Amino acid sequence: MQSTTKTPRIRSFSLARGRVIGGKYVVESLLGGGWEGEVYRVTERRTGASRAAKLFFPQRNNDDKAVTFYARKLESLRACPIVLKYHHSESFRFRGAPVTVLISEFVEGRIIDDLIDSSPGKRLPEYEALAIFYNLAVGLEQIHAEREYHGDLHSGNVLVKRRGVHFDVKLVDLFDLGKPSRAHAQYDVVALVRLLYDMLGGQRWYAAQRDEIKKIICGLRQSLILSRYPTARRLREHLDQFEWRSSGA
Ligand SMILES: Nc1ncnc2c1ncn2[C@@H]1O[C@H](COP(=O)(O)OP(=O)(O)O)[C@@H](O)[C@H]1O
Ligand SMILES: [Mg+2]
Repeated sequence: MQSTTKTPRIRSFSLARGRVIGGKYVVESLLGGGWEGEVYRVTERRTGASRAAKLFFPQRNNDDKAVTFYARKLESLRACPIVLKYHHSESFRFRGAPVTVLISEFVEGRIIDDLIDSSPGKRLPEYEALAIFYNLAVGLEQIHAEREYHGDLHSGNVLVKRRGVHFDVKLVDLFDLGKPSRAHAQYDVVALVRLLYDMLGGQRWYAAQRDEIKKIICGLRQSLILSRYPTARRLREHLDQFEWRSSGA
């Protein structure tokens, strides 16, 4: 059913540092923005705890559908370490309009877009790309084991933090494609392979990749990817076991 009240259009909140949200959270900085809204780093006034606050543009969140979907999905995946942890939702008024805010853990790290942009040649070193890719495959396998899917896996929705030789990886921004299904899980697998391609420099560097890498990316041919790796589990198993034949490995 359509909502009877007219939804106000908001293109940007542009909240200043120090602005208070819902009486409880103080804005520290803008973390990012996208199609659905803007995300700020905030401090909880009572405890000083750092949190992330995603403010939904009302026109992307009719009847709170988007925020409710996101919150429920995060909550149902709370056992998956790769998924952002949900805290609760808040409402506040922005220029007189009610806006819903999703409060979650604050994830330290950088989105993969930024990592790629700041790397020489606009591509990550092969080891880094493979380490991040492997962690994502493990994470997707767990999400799919819960009969769920991500739905919008790309370089703007993955946060990465280096720790020693490791890369901690978190997924944000799960998307509603409808009831969980095998097709949605496979869509995630193809999106993940595409992400490896992007991390390794995309089209510009593809021809120069080693055979082992091409065997994973399959020239981005979806049917070939899915015939080799019909599930995230099969992809992860491949990554655990394949033989390096290229020189220098
Ligand atoms: N919990 C979080 N901690 C740190 N940064 C975050 C968090 N959630 C989102 N971000 C940042 O904000 C950006 C936009 O958030 P996202 O949920 O992807 O919004 P949109 O749906 O508008 O794309 C992300 O690309 C990421 O950089
Ligand atoms: Mg996003």
